[in-house]
Amino acid sequence: MKAIVYAEYGPPDVLQLKETEKPVPKENEVLVKILATSVNYSDWGFVRGKPFMVRMWSGFLKPKQTLLGADIAGRIEAIGSNAKQFKPGDEVFAEISGVGWGGFAEYVAVPGNALVLKPANLTFEEAAAVPQAACVALQGLRDKGHIQKGQKVLVFGASGGIGTFAVQIARSFGAEVTGVCSTSNLDLVRSIGADHVIDYTQEDFTRNGLHYDLILATAGFRSLFDYRRALSPTGIHVATGGSLAQVFQPMLLGPWLTMFGKKKLCTLSAKADRNDLEFIKGLIEAGKVKPVIDRRFTLKETAEALRYYGKGHSRGKVVITM
Ligand SMILES: NC(=O)c1ccc[n+]([C@@H]2O[C@H](COP(=O)([O-])OP(=O)(O)OC[C@H]3O[C@@H](n4cnc5c(N)ncnc54)[C@H](OP(=O)(O)O)[C@@H]3O)[C@@H](O)[C@H]2O)c1
Repeated sequence: MKAIVYAEYGPPDVLQLKETEKPVPKENEVLVKILATSVNYSDWGFVRGKPFMVRMWSGFLKPKQTLLGADIAGRIEAIGSNAKQFKPGDEVFAEISGVGWGGFAEYVAVPGNALVLKPANLTFEEAAAVPQAACVALQGLRDKGHIQKGQKVLVFGASGGIGTFAVQIARSFGAEVTGVCSTSNLDLVRSIGADHVIDYTQEDFTRNGLHYDLILATAGFRSLFDYRRALSPTGIHVATGGSLAQVFQPMLLGPWLTMFGKKKLCTLSAKADRNDLEFIKGLIEAGKVKPVIDRRFTLKETAEALRYYGKGHSRGKVVITM
């Protein structure tokens, strides 16, 4: 089969399209013929080995494992003797970073319990856009942010991979959602259901006198003190990403700042979770969430897909099709 592999850290040019052995599923595994995958920050971080901290997981001097690709959507081709949940032909999607990666390939063998049946109303491309980004958004809003109906929620980075899911998921919880993005993405963010939009190039949401019960900041960019200023007296700020300083600020300063009032500042470390993906599938099938796809690339163009993602201005998700 064809797979994207890498043996050293560097720019996306280190990625190579190679012929590799088609995996054979073990007893508890199923063989999935991947039809589409999508790019996430984990791929972008792991290929470059940056920020350096990611090497704690990916290997210090060179990558421990040579495959990338966390999101998959495809069709089951074969099942191991103990993988009874599925049958050949089933259409599935999954986040496989916890079970060996390998989404940038034509086939992968993964434990059956990592997979979820694909939402009936999505194409494979759309389904591949969902797993990691939507789960990060859900875990940030629900588990860290304790989102409640009627709350004022602000999503910073609302037009990106995680942000486009966050806006829709927050709306599905009954929140009043403000999406912050750049000028050219205002219409997109409105179109996915944001009640209000703010153009960060024209207006500073941390200094306009408005306050939010929950702020989900997908990619950093502002200081913890800015986010704190924009919170209501009992508001929660959840940082999902950003520079190293921005990720560590809430961890180190968050508990200390929380002592001076009831505002809470925290960082999310999301985990692939099959139950969360089932929950999101429910929202998709109920018509409450729909993936936004920016650009599509072929497997051969994976390096280009990563370069595009790495510019940090994707409108929704970047998808790779087989
Ligand atoms: N916590 C976790 O477990 C976890 C898991 C996965 C990913 N992440 C993090 O999630 C973050 C976002 O990932 P993603 O895939 O959603 O990224 P993405 O698709 O590239 O989206 C990035 C967003 O940032 C916005 N942006 C770019 N420059 C900006 C600026 N100067 N000021 C304000 N906004 C700006 C973009 O909006 P415009 O184009 O409109 O400017 C876009 O909406 C990454 O930093 C990653 O580390 C965290």
